[in-house]
Amino acid sequence: MNMIQKSEKMKRVHSDIRGPVFEEANRMRKNGIDVLRLNTGNPGVFGFGLPESLRASILDHIDEAVPYCDLRGMPAARQAIYEYHLTKGLPNINAEDIFIGNGVSELVTMALLPLLGPGDEMLIPSPDYSLWTNSVHLCGATPVHYVCDEQSCWYPDLDDIRSKITPKTKALLVINPNNPTGAVYPEEILLQLADIAREHNLVLFSDEIYDRLVMDGVKHTSLGSLCPDLFCVTFNGLSKSHIVCGFRCGWMIISGNKEVGKEYVAGIQQIAAMRLCANAIMQLAIPAALGDPESTEAMLVPGGRLYEQREACCRVLDTVEGVTYVKNHAAFYIFPKLDIKRFNIHDDQQFAFDFLHEKHVMIIPGRGFSWPEPDHFRIVMLPEPDKMAAAMTALKEFLADYRQK
Ligand SMILES: Cc1ncc(COP(=O)(O)O)c(C=O)c1O
Repeated sequence: MNMIQKSEKMKRVHSDIRGPVFEEANRMRKNGIDVLRLNTGNPGVFGFGLPESLRASILDHIDEAVPYCDLRGMPAARQAIYEYHLTKGLPNINAEDIFIGNGVSELVTMALLPLLGPGDEMLIPSPDYSLWTNSVHLCGATPVHYVCDEQSCWYPDLDDIRSKITPKTKALLVINPNNPTGAVYPEEILLQLADIAREHNLVLFSDEIYDRLVMDGVKHTSLGSLCPDLFCVTFNGLSKSHIVCGFRCGWMIISGNKEVGKEYVAGIQQIAAMRLCANAIMQLAIPAALGDPESTEAMLVPGGRLYEQREACCRVLDTVEGVTYVKNHAAFYIFPKLDIKRFNIHDDQQFAFDFLHEKHVMIIPGRGFSWPEPDHFRIVMLPEPDKMAAAMTALKEFLADYRQK
């Protein structure tokens, strides 16, 4: 029998968060080396526990989760989601416009497959969260990356977006708050993004999974709330705000001008039907979670874990020569810049390997986020403050005499 090859489209798919640097870290761990893994935004592995409100809700209702549920999700869960997005100002919504899925990760494919095919293009931020770029590849379509500008707080570069629109462009993705930059976009930027979508007849996708993880008094605005005349799909979930990544609990909600998207939504429904329903147990947590913003908010203020971890990280990072960064106002990521001339860096993956081998700390190189230059990397700020500071001190020591060969 001939060797079995993977399909052409798989050659473009890459997931560096669990890619070569991750595999090397796993190999080192098997050999007994204690590696601090700052690769994924997975709070549960850093000692964040399940909020009690969610535990009680699941245990009390577990029998309801025995059968397959509605392909869109359980009614009580969708009602809670609907009410949540009403408070965020999403226009023209109801509980029927919601699809609950096994994490946003599942829903992205569900949303893109019925929209995109070979020859189609979709605008995706750079840096991005690679799920989106990969999912466009899986549709056989082309991700076209627009620049988010580090000099302007990592906001999307609107001229760059405009310059990349072609007759084949079908959709524009906004990740706000952003992974990997932690940026939160102000209303005036969102309004201009909506203008572009309006002008060019683009479907708007807004990934807002970090909308409840905003700090420093910054306000998050839901993109769809600003454009009732457009077709917008907003993505959200509990993985981050309620520390339950392993539950695989996300949803998407369609808002605005739903009339124009009827055919497309029928396609989404076909795909949702193919997999019967999302895991029902995790849906039991949704009403409790959305009714409990307090456990999330407590992490984001002075004295709260996420706030203090960011502060600890930035305090040391501020003293590292050859590294600059834009402080995040949301989520638990920053995307620092390396002075590549100073360190002679020409390969960001090599930089990540070298740091891992010498200091046993794993970071993800910028290329994992569709960043074209070898001058960035992402830090996940989830370890407790003293561990976070120690990791940044290790980076400082490592860079003190680093010159890439
Ligand atoms: C921007 C963004 N979207 C989606 C996801 C996936 O979330 P889920 O756990 O709901 O699949 C992540 C996970 O890190 C993310 O950062």
